[in-house]
Amino acid sequence: MTPTTLDATIADSHVVVVAGSGGVGKTTLSAALAVRAALDGRRVAVVTIDPAKRLADALGLAGDSAVGNDPVRIPLDDARGELWALMLDTRSTFDALVDRYSPNEDQARRIRSNLFYKNISGALSGTQEYMAAEKLYELNGDDRFDLVIVDTPPTRQALDFLSAPARLRRFIDHPLYRIVIAPSSIGLRTVSAVSQPVLRAIAKVVGAQALDDALAFFKAFQGLDAGFRQRAHDVDRVLRESSTAYVVVTSGQAEPVAEATYFIGELESANVVVSLIVANRLMPHFGDDDNSLPSSLLDNLRELDDERRAEESNLEALSAARPETPWIRVPLVPELVDERLDTLAALRLLGQALGDAD
Ligand SMILES: Nc1ncnc2c1ncn2[C@@H]1O[C@H](COP(=O)(O)OP(=O)(O)OP(=O)(O)O)[C@@H](O)[C@H]1O
Ligand SMILES: [Mg+2]
Repeated sequence: MTPTTLDATIADSHVVVVAGSGGVGKTTLSAALAVRAALDGRRVAVVTIDPAKRLADALGLAGDSAVGNDPVRIPLDDARGELWALMLDTRSTFDALVDRYSPNEDQARRIRSNLFYKNISGALSGTQEYMAAEKLYELNGDDRFDLVIVDTPPTRQALDFLSAPARLRRFIDHPLYRIVIAPSSIGLRTVSAVSQPVLRAIAKVVGAQALDDALAFFKAFQGLDAGFRQRAHDVDRVLRESSTAYVVVTSGQAEPVAEATYFIGELESANVVVSLIVANRLMPHFGDDDNSLPSSLLDNLRELDDERRAEESNLEALSAARPETPWIRVPLVPELVDERLDTLAALRLLGQALGDAD
């Protein structure tokens, strides 16, 4: 393989974060990048988020046992390196953190069975971003891998991912937590939703039971907070290391292109340099008008060509707005759309297309 802009981008990286708005191909490209890098000799772990079923199957992530735990090795013919994949399970990643930082098993069990914890660990917005970052941190420190590629949840805000550790810290510093641990004002034994005027007021809004669950959670969380805070700090450091590359994916359509432009600006304002823009799933050029074709087909071709031109002009605007950022164009790969073809083979093709795109 001859080195390309893409290969150069990831050659010096230990972590590649693949970001972009919804549906642009983040998960697929993360997998294709991983395949390409593994073929090229890297020992790669790719963290995917909610992969489509076909992609999960192709990566050997279809069974329950493959979710959220350890990456599974995917056999890849002719690979000089290794390909490992993992499907992020927010809840079990959070559970593992609770286990790690709990002083004893009993406390871990108390937290994990708490209703408030069950709600936040699976569904709280931002938890998924943080747990993706947490997995990234964990795998980055794992000797089995020399490259970690992380897919991110769809979002309009690039900073959702980057600021996840800070939000976790803020969560730990939650006012309820302070009330619970405040040594003299209330005291641990008296904690109950009805014991304090301020808590009574909150209870009226969220319900006494919900508040009691939250208080019980923060009470049980004592002793873990320092560990969590330190961890969030360490994760944050890896997200901002120079060996962590950010790849922003967009399609050629107006809205994703506008979002990508905004994304890149947001990341830059947080002092994170975007290493590469990938313009994905672009309409191929089918050739110029061939008047020997039947008119219906010709109309069709013209329509597709209009779409291609519109994409071109959207992307030109992006490149004008971000002249410094390298970017590559990846065509629509029909094999990914064609259900009859093997997805891993299609990922190899897409990986090739990624390299040929210079
Ligand atoms: N270059 C390509 N050519 C053809 N199809 C593609 C290409 N890239 C991605 N796709 C297809 O586009 C669809 C969306 O891709 P994918 O799920 O990777 O997007 P995503 O950005 O991860 O979405 P979400 O934001 O919902 O997580 C999938 O069906 C995938 O097969
Ligand atoms: Mg996805």
